[in-house]
Amino acid sequence: MTMHQADKQQDLAEQLSHFDIFSWENQRVKWELFAHARERCPVAHTDGNGGFYIVSRYDDVRRVMEDWETFSSTESPLVPTGLPSLCPIDDDPPVQTAARQLLNPLFSRTALAPHEEAMHQTARSLIDEFIDRGSAEILNEYAGPYIGRMLTKVIFNDLTDEELEAAQALALAVAEGATPELYAQLFAMCTEYLERAKKRGITGDGVLARLVNGRFGDRPISQEEQIGCLGILVMGGLDTTRAAIGNITYRLTQHPGLEDRLRDPAWVRRDMDEFLRLDSPVAAMARVATRDVELNGVLIKKGERVQVRFDSANRDTAKFRDADRLVFDEARSGHTAFGMGVHRCIGSNMARMQIEIAFEELLKRVRNIRLVSTADIQWVPGQSNALHAVDIEFDRVG
Ligand code: HEM
Repeated sequence: MTMHQADKQQDLAEQLSHFDIFSWENQRVKWELFAHARERCPVAHTDGNGGFYIVSRYDDVRRVMEDWETFSSTESPLVPTGLPSLCPIDDDPPVQTAARQLLNPLFSRTALAPHEEAMHQTARSLIDEFIDRGSAEILNEYAGPYIGRMLTKVIFNDLTDEELEAAQALALAVAEGATPELYAQLFAMCTEYLERAKKRGITGDGVLARLVNGRFGDRPISQEEQIGCLGILVMGGLDTTRAAIGNITYRLTQHPGLEDRLRDPAWVRRDMDEFLRLDSPVAAMARVATRDVELNGVLIKKGERVQVRFDSANRDTAKFRDADRLVFDEARSGHTAFGMGVHRCIGSNMARMQIEIAFEELLKRVRNIRLVSTADIQWVPGQSNALHAVDIEFDRVG
């Protein structure tokens, strides 16, 4: 190793020991930092964000995610939101299992099928707004409103039109710039709509109805759990899928010809996971150790927190060849973008469906998508792996 390389490694080790998920400086060298971590200190300690062990290798991430008894989801937030605990993401089994058993059936592909046409229509109406201009900022003009409208429609499917409109406006505001105040408003709205649903004596088989009339095993669901479920469904589905659409659009601008691949409906089965692997919208989650445990030679003491890096695991060359690039035409499986183990994303079918429809409608109307010359591509630091803005121009199809 040359002196220069040694200095570089020392600098990366130093940055890693203070890694802060909100730091722009860390963000700029993020992939180098995690490559360094995977190679030299796969379970590194940072004093950033209140202190965490950063788990960077694929196999270690899998081990943590699959052992919820040792690595608990309670009391472990990576980013303190100031909100009460959100069920099921902040719970362990058996409460988490009960919540998933109640809600999973509503997020199967079959259960979501009745919403498909509305997704197409929503996407088309948003494209109508910018198609004549020949340009768009894809996150705020397309992905955000599309996801916000559809997510609230699916989650709050028992609301009046007026209530739904208010929910959509708030979801949109959160999608455009989440702040603690907006999260608090979203939470207050979930509380209010839940109360109204109870007063109305809600029936049917939507999320609100199941939360009001259902049980967790043999006991009633507490109000905090009901609100938590509503809140995390909206928060979990919004930034993530919005970011995914932005990230994929950006990749299209970087690889001329890729667009045509996505015009073939087979891309959904064949290629979508490769995009989600490379630019995993959820960068990391946190867990807390419930006992002293050794992970890859490092002793993590009971009560210490770990930062599980899905993004780094998905770029681990021990698992994925040429992991920093999109590699199609190869059976790549097992990415961690939707998590692993008991908390694996409840909304993965919905996200896939929304992404599929978003690109089906977009690519029917536009071609030759490229970044505008003034585009300022910035990956924003934080818990998501998302771009600040994706300013594109395009030609019209036909
Ligand atoms: C591309 C889009 C999405 C990505 C990348 C994503 C990613 C993830 C990941 C990594 C987890 C695991 C969290 C953990 O282990 O602590 C998760 C859980 C979760 N996601 Fe998603 N998600 C997406 C879309 C959605 C959608 C559309 C919804 C809502 C319908 C949703 C709702 C949730 C909920 C409620 C959980 C918690 C599940 C539990 O704790 O059992 N997500 N998601």
